Amino acid sequence: MNFGIKAGLSSTINTYEFAPDGTLLRRHARSIPGFAFMHDMAITPNHAIFCQNPVTFNPLPMLLGFSGAGACIKFDPKSPTKIYLLPRDGSELEVYETDPCFIFHHANAYESGEEVILDSICYANFPTVEENTSFLDVEFDRLPAGELWRFRINRTTGQVSRIVLESRCCEFPSLHPDRVGRSYRYLYSGATDQPSGNAPLQTVIKLDLGTDQIERQMYSVAPRGFTGEPVFVPRPGGSAEDDGWVLVLVYEADRHRSSLHILEAQNIEAGAIAKLNLPYHIPYGLHGSFTPEVFTPAR
Ligand SMILES: [Fe+2]
Repeated sequence: MNFGIKAGLSSTINTYEFAPDGTLLRRHARSIPGFAFMHDMAITPNHAIFCQNPVTFNPLPMLLGFSGAGACIKFDPKSPTKIYLLPRDGSELEVYETDPCFIFHHANAYESGEEVILDSICYANFPTVEENTSFLDVEFDRLPAGELWRFRINRTTGQVSRIVLESRCCEFPSLHPDRVGRSYRYLYSGATDQPSGNAPLQTVIKLDLGTDQIERQMYSVAPRGFTGEPVFVPRPGGSAEDDGWVLVLVYEADRHRSSLHILEAQNIEAGAIAKLNLPYHIPYGLHGSFTPEVFTPAR
């Protein structure tokens, strides 16, 4: 499943579903009112889920060459965040509202009776640097922290409730690929080493959401290591949801090199079981992915 957004005064959400062989199975286009800054979607067996952040977009400075697109976006704290459920069969979309917040990435979603549960990394407002500020001078204290929130969307009453699952600043959540769109227990994410406030990601956090008291494990590469998105790789033939490995690419600032750290997912606090030290640094790709295929460079 994938999507594309055509943003304007009103916006179009195009969703696509492909079979594993690449055949297009479904394609739907839905129009929604207002400008849409939608970076990610979540899926369940019956829905594609999008959040419309409460922002306004004034493209004039960008069109005149004075700024990039990001600087033309302003957070509107007086408007709600809208949650759209787009039925995958193409039927009428549903729209719900919750208090204003800003979301780039969803962790997962699933259906439970009359509810749809959506877990997302949420900011109190649009995390952006001051205009004309160099990215080298970012004051992280002034940026909102990304927290993991759980939204419960009740399709019968139309109400949305929400709770914070993790207040430590985190980004780039991931999970067992077979649990995407289904109820799940374990979530992995990049996180800050410090317990509060925004900062660069220097830690992998594993959350056990299967108990009332959320249990967490952490693997830190601070003070000079910086992480991207952790990727969970299931152990072939394994059955437990966390039976496998967590892969994370780390930038090691003190030697200006990158390394791939491999953790046992069931015990990430035990430290890396292997580190693949690369003879160069890899510019941040932010997101991560894994394939068991080996690509041999042409000689
Ligand atoms: Fe992203």
